[in-house]
Amino acid sequence: MQICRTKQAIRAATLTWRQAGQGVTLVPTMGFLHAGHMALVARARAEGGRVVATIFVNPTQFGPTEDLTTYPRDEARDFDMLRAAGVDAVFAPDVAEVYDPAAQTQVEAAALSRILIGRLRPGHFRGVATVVTKLFNIIGPDAACFGEKDFQQLAVIRTIVRDLDMPVRVIGVPTEREGDGLAMSSRNVRLTPADRAEAPVLNAALTRAAQMPGATVAQMHAAVRAALATAPRADVQSVDIRDAASLRPVRGQPRAPVVILLAVKFGPVLLIDNRVIPPPAQGAAS
Ligand code: PAF
Repeated sequence: MQICRTKQAIRAATLTWRQAGQGVTLVPTMGFLHAGHMALVARARAEGGRVVATIFVNPTQFGPTEDLTTYPRDEARDFDMLRAAGVDAVFAPDVAEVYDPAAQTQVEAAALSRILIGRLRPGHFRGVATVVTKLFNIIGPDAACFGEKDFQQLAVIRTIVRDLDMPVRVIGVPTEREGDGLAMSSRNVRLTPADRAEAPVLNAALTRAAQMPGATVAQMHAAVRAALATAPRADVQSVDIRDAASLRPVRGQPRAPVVILLAVKFGPVLLIDNRVIPPPAQGAAS
């Protein structure tokens, strides 16, 4: 596995592969890898060409009061995991390699970036869209894998790729979960034991809503809130039920898939999770 610290080095690696007619699939990460990331790598390998992973804790997607400095890092362990999983190259630059202090250009999916998590974390999706655009331009992948856990991030990335005609196929990969249902996240290690014990409540609340065939959006919303209220340590930031394709608000009984999006804090740690609920089969409910 090649470890590239500079744009020049990773470009040289991918150019060689492209000239040999090999496809390149990208797995962008912020490191501190877990089984969720390795599922992205496995999906990328299934494409059959070369796999490039990136490890870059992107400062522009963190707000001034957020956890950039305490974001967990373990580069040596990450490299071992990527090597063992058959990744061909890893791009692990420092901040100065990625961001020129004189840079003026940012990328933003205007409306999508300002709703939901974007309201809780102003500027977050602009930082994500900008760094993903830069990584696409530096590496030139044919395809890129992103986790469905970050549902809105995936929607933002699909939108910028479509709007800016980026020649990259975006692949969404299902969420990996711990045995008790907690969605895997690099942030989970920062939960206290007491918070960790209550954190599976996000998945439990989503499961409860998924088991209400024919329910209205209001009924699902109430059921999710009630389930979350059983965890006294959970500080619920938002519960949103939106059209799964557009993320627009929905009312009444859904006629198309909806997505339930949760953002819940345990102490300083913000956890997110989601579930797509298909509409009831026709004639199944009034
Ligand atoms: O999902 C992440 O880890 C990050 O948001 C990403 C896509 C690597 C951009 O920094």
